[in-house]
Amino acid sequence: MISISKATQRIGDLRKELDRHNYLYYVQSAPQITDFEYDMMMNELIHLEKLFPELSDPASPTQRVGDDINREFNQVEHKYPMLSLGNTYSREELTEFDNRVRKSIGDAFSYVCELKYDGTSISLTYSGGVLKHGVTRGDGFVGDDVTENIKTIRSIPLVLHGSGFPDEFVIRGEVIMTHEVFAKLNREREAKGELPFANPRNAASGTLKLQKSQEVARRQLDCFLYYLLGEQLPTASHFGNLEAAKNWGFRIPPYINKVNTLNAVFDFIDHWEKERKLLPFDIDGIVIKVDSIDQQNELGFTAKTPRWAISYKFKAEQVITRLLSIDFQVGRTGAVTPVANLEPVQLAGTTVKRATLHNADQINMLDIRIGDYVYVEKGGEIIPKIVGVDTEKRTENSKKFEYIKNCPDCGAELVRQEGEAAHYCPNEQDCPPQVKGRIEHFVSRKAMNIDGLGEEIIDLLYQTGLIKNIADLYDLTIDDLIPLERMGKKSAENIITGISTSRNVPFDRVLYALGIRYAGETVAKKLAAGFSSVDLLARAEITELLKVDEIGTKIAESVVQFFRNKNNLLIIERLKAAGLQMESVQKRSMFSDKLKGKTFVISGTFAGISRDELKEMVGNYGGKTSGSVTSKTDFLLAGENMGPAKLQKANELKIPVIGVSEFYKLLGKDE
Ligand code: IVH
Repeated sequence: MISISKATQRIGDLRKELDRHNYLYYVQSAPQITDFEYDMMMNELIHLEKLFPELSDPASPTQRVGDDINREFNQVEHKYPMLSLGNTYSREELTEFDNRVRKSIGDAFSYVCELKYDGTSISLTYSGGVLKHGVTRGDGFVGDDVTENIKTIRSIPLVLHGSGFPDEFVIRGEVIMTHEVFAKLNREREAKGELPFANPRNAASGTLKLQKSQEVARRQLDCFLYYLLGEQLPTASHFGNLEAAKNWGFRIPPYINKVNTLNAVFDFIDHWEKERKLLPFDIDGIVIKVDSIDQQNELGFTAKTPRWAISYKFKAEQVITRLLSIDFQVGRTGAVTPVANLEPVQLAGTTVKRATLHNADQINMLDIRIGDYVYVEKGGEIIPKIVGVDTEKRTENSKKFEYIKNCPDCGAELVRQEGEAAHYCPNEQDCPPQVKGRIEHFVSRKAMNIDGLGEEIIDLLYQTGLIKNIADLYDLTIDDLIPLERMGKKSAENIITGISTSRNVPFDRVLYALGIRYAGETVAKKLAAGFSSVDLLARAEITELLKVDEIGTKIAESVVQFFRNKNNLLIIERLKAAGLQMESVQKRSMFSDKLKGKTFVISGTFAGISRDELKEMVGNYGGKTSGSVTSKTDFLLAGENMGPAKLQKANELKIPVIGVSEFYKLLGKDE
């Protein structure tokens, strides 16, 4: 076996080489070796670090591969609060901003123009040239420590290059997902029957909050850095600091301009308003910053935003095209949505053929007629919408549009409730898209999580009369499935196993799966916490329901209505007989109100119990938990490796700091 001194030497060399090639590939886009050679070096380093665990290092390039540990995020206080930017939407508003700046600091200054990257912001702390923390924005004061996930982003240096960096500083930026990675991720999700992300921004922020860093690594996030903070920054200019950061190995976006006039700012805006389509990632505007740090300090901040910077937001991209016809889609709740068929047109990089129209009121308000030329807009979401009509282009052939009176699928007369924008098909039991939609919702991942039952198979099962409702699923056998078109024995077995295992899904998710209108995941959890069984919930009156946290009249009425329906009650009886979880495993009555009125902050890690379990216990005993220590905190429950800032704050505010055994004592339990 290799000696420790040789291993130390080799590990050091490999780390240096891998860091260098990583930088050449991800920051400079100028690789010098093949992917294969890189992988071989990485494998050798992983192997050596396994042999000599004492030589491991949190800043080693091996940390970028991620792992499959399910981690919870510690909350970390931002040394400098993460503020947002004021928004402007017009040149007039920008001119007003410029006037305010001039009034305060005179005319001798420069602006730095940057792109406004549309992702999720991140704050990185470096100490002694090594990445220490990557923290999300959170509420601006306290965010989640997502360091392990951040390390998987190859363009973020784990160890800085060169010299001259302050011993301690913060650098902020935007974590983004490129169009290419986003499209690939959504294709994969759809193939697995998972819901696609609505836009790259949601995909980036969802990915950054994943618990397993290995999955984050697979998703290839990227990051643009745009702001340095610290006591000993290299220069007194924002632009200069970004240039310096470039030399330390950061990827500073090349789309930056330092200018001296407002007109030059407008030129920058004009340029990117046109060119942004060509960028491989989303931006939603431009950011303008006063360059000099001294002048920034002179201008200062309002409560929420700096006075030295502002964003100019682009209007959503719009095109004009012809409205050919309108279809109607019926969802699982019976809500009818009008969908426009359009003459195909290019918009923000994709061909658009269909767009949503929301409801009848919107169609009337916009006075949309078939054959009209309509404005189609793509905001942050994938599905475009119609936002207006060009009445000047209207021809005599355009047809005034009559909203349908009957369901396009089952023919039932549509109803519209007081105060509701949508029309509904009332034929809950027999209207095919409603029945199929409810089954699709029931089997979906966040509900009963039954694999293999996609839209097509549910359609087949429904067409052939094998299932007419969710309870019928539990009567299915392998022999029922095998004769279906394109159904192999293995897939049939998987489906039946999936249905069978779903009997263990906990009560709150069963409640969500039932598809009670307005009862999403969170509401279902609250209902399950308030009523420990489906029988109790079914008997609940509006007044009792309203006592449950976050349940308002609309939800309460919908729950009562659901359980008044005889068909629903029959289905629930059958699901009970099939062995589904129809009550909470922990009954509330087991607990007391010992912690009523007490607020806990739980920080660090605890032997034998997770932070989430502790949080749940606090809730079960009537207490509350919060993420940050304030004067309202009653106890800081402190574990190993807790954030020093929290401890300091608790000491300052004289808040008792307790361990797990003292916590158990408060509950009247011994450990
Ligand atoms: S500077 C104190 N520069 O926009 C000012 N922000 O509402 C700090 N953003 O949350 C922000 N691109 O996530 C700055 N070039 C850029 C940016 C940028 C995107 C995001 C950032 C922030 C939000 C402002």
